[in-house]
Amino acid sequence: MRYILFVGFGNTLADLEIHAQINNPQKEGDLSYSFVMDTDEEAIKIVSKLGSAIKLAKEVGGVDSLVEDISSRIYSKTFSITNLNDFNLSAKLNDDVKRDVGQSRFILPKNNYGLSPLIILKEKVTEFLVDSSKSKLYQTIWVHNFEHWIKKDREMPFFNARAGMLPPKIARSMVNLIPGSGVGKTLVDPFCGSGRVLVEAAEMGYKVIGLDIVSDQVEDTKANLRHLNLSGEVHLQDATHLSEIVKDIDAIVTEPFLGKPNLRPDKSEFAAVGLQKLYLGCLKDWYKSLKMGGFIVMVFPILTGVKKDFHTSKIIDSVKKLGYNSLAQTIYSRPDAGIKREIIILQKQN
Ligand SMILES: C[S@@+](CC[C@H](N)C(=O)[O-])C[C@H]1O[C@@H](n2cnc3c(N)ncnc32)[C@H](O)[C@@H]1O
Repeated sequence: MRYILFVGFGNTLADLEIHAQINNPQKEGDLSYSFVMDTDEEAIKIVSKLGSAIKLAKEVGGVDSLVEDISSRIYSKTFSITNLNDFNLSAKLNDDVKRDVGQSRFILPKNNYGLSPLIILKEKVTEFLVDSSKSKLYQTIWVHNFEHWIKKDREMPFFNARAGMLPPKIARSMVNLIPGSGVGKTLVDPFCGSGRVLVEAAEMGYKVIGLDIVSDQVEDTKANLRHLNLSGEVHLQDATHLSEIVKDIDAIVTEPFLGKPNLRPDKSEFAAVGLQKLYLGCLKDWYKSLKMGGFIVMVFPILTGVKKDFHTSKIIDSVKKLGYNSLAQTIYSRPDAGIKREIIILQKQN
């Protein structure tokens, strides 16, 4: 069966995450992908793991007798139909179906992604999406659990905005850049901060281990894991000495120390050199802890200078000499944050 997956606006990791976790996905629109899977359960199971996923629809028919077909599938008082290719046709289609079914109401979509998960759940909407270019009708069968994501974003016992915190969905997508499932594997965040990466990795079934050089951060991570009934080991330790604590790990996912907050642009070049030295020291040590073929997903900040930006990822050539392959990279930057982040996937080679 074919499914269409919609991803959240602003998650620039979506494309890499989907390719790492779903077989043979096809890009449909800016924020949508289609893929084939045997059962709804299987499709929902995999999609609900993704940080980027917000909504899943299933192919239910073609476009012959479209109005009657949709009318026969409406199971709630409210429905909504979006034409994915020709958005302007959506209003007429909703009117036609309303006339056909009689006692029901519709909510008009505002754009060709259809309704938001919040509206679909709150208003109990049966949602349809029409792909007129491929003559296919889709029906929404799953939306993301935004209450759980909000809980993890805003209601954790500890957070430290000064140390920099990843939004939970971005942390989840970073974890999912490691191909396959986390069950039975060990994942380490050697700069764990308040534990955002570890929380997501533990929810994905990884055994998690965190390190931080600040004892308050170690305690915060422990409390945040406990708050969500997750377990993990957290150590007060310098990230450059990971190999003294643990060996044979499958993955490292980390947003490391990004430099002083509110750094003056004229100090950026010097700061970038310091960070690059720290990151190289880490990557040299982490090689000893990783299994052969193990993955690292790491943030490399871009520091804004007076005349140009300084990319800490410039060390990538030296990193390759340490024995890593660089597999892919993407950029993530929050609209409200000054710092841009390159996220790079590395794999340990011989
Ligand atoms: C950008 S924050 C990580 C935030 C984390 N991703 C989160 O969302 O909660 C970097 C963390 O690295 C820690 N840190 C700085 N230098 C370190 C070092 N050499 N070894 C281990 N941790 C270090 C800081 O205390 C801080 O908590």
